[in-house]
Amino acid sequence: MRIIVTGGFGDLGSRVAREADRRGHDVEPVSRRTGVDLATGEGLVGALRGAEVVVNCADDPRRGDVVTVAGTRRLAEAVQAVEAAQAPMHLVHISIVGIDNFPMAYYRRKLAAEAALAASGAAVTVLRATQFHSLAATFARSLTRGGVTFQVAGMAFQPVDIDWVATQLLDLAEAPRPTGYRRAPDVAGPEVLTVAQLADCLRQHDGRKAARVVRLPAPFGALRAFGRRQNIPAAGQGRTGGRTFADWLAEQPRAHDGR
Ligand SMILES: NC(=O)c1ccc[n+]([C@@H]2O[C@H](COP(=O)([O-])OP(=O)(O)OC[C@H]3O[C@@H](n4cnc5c(N)ncnc54)[C@H](OP(=O)(O)O)[C@@H]3O)[C@@H](O)[C@H]2O)c1
Repeated sequence: MRIIVTGGFGDLGSRVAREADRRGHDVEPVSRRTGVDLATGEGLVGALRGAEVVVNCADDPRRGDVVTVAGTRRLAEAVQAVEAAQAPMHLVHISIVGIDNFPMAYYRRKLAAEAALAASGAAVTVLRATQFHSLAATFARSLTRGGVTFQVAGMAFQPVDIDWVATQLLDLAEAPRPTGYRRAPDVAGPEVLTVAQLADCLRQHDGRKAARVVRLPAPFGALRAFGRRQNIPAAGQGRTGGRTFADWLAEQPRAHDGR
């Protein structure tokens, strides 16, 4: 199967492209470095010709309106333009668990991108994943300062292995094309970990002394949404899999910043 991976040189997209190649597909990663720009549409239609599936891993949170929202809409339009002239195409798109009513600009744009896909009429499968292990680690490190971890009330992650997410996207790419827009079951990692638990894993990994945990209320905004665990699938919802945070961390270099 010919598969185009937009954002195919990014963290997730490169793994999707590698997995597609491993499964024997004719895969082509594209991005601005190959002359394909979602912000302008440059190179897009040409890159899609002959493809049966496009897996969209392109994104730029700093240019959310232009890339996340308008770029995703433009991609769906390009898919429809190409398939009008050739065979049907399936667009598989990565999104984020719990973005409905999440008070964060990037998550609002991810939701708007989903809405644009739903309105496009293209054959689309959206897969929402929880935060990747690396992002959960970044959150936990940023909430640890000078031997103190700040545990915002309730805040936890169900971080997921990016390599496993890539396999899930490929499974969807290989599945029959839907007739219109559909959401696949959300995917998450195998365990829920509080910020304090994540920070403790990182501390052990980095060989640092135990941090004191200071509990903070989550009064408003994004912290409140994280405190309510909107970023985690509801009990019994979604699918879980991939390496645990600890197994992923064991393969990462130790931090050298002494935090
Ligand atoms: N990180 C997480 O925890 C997490 C969790 C769930 C879902 N996701 C989703 O996973 C997706 C991929 O994330 P990632 O961490 O792999 O991102 P990434 O490493 O930053 O990769 C983004 C890719 O998008 C391309 N890109 C940026 N602007 C572009 C443009 N104007 N036109 C075409 N391509 C463009 C970049 O390549 P060039 O610069 O060469 O163009 C790059 O290959 C995102 O949609 C994100 O929302 C992430």
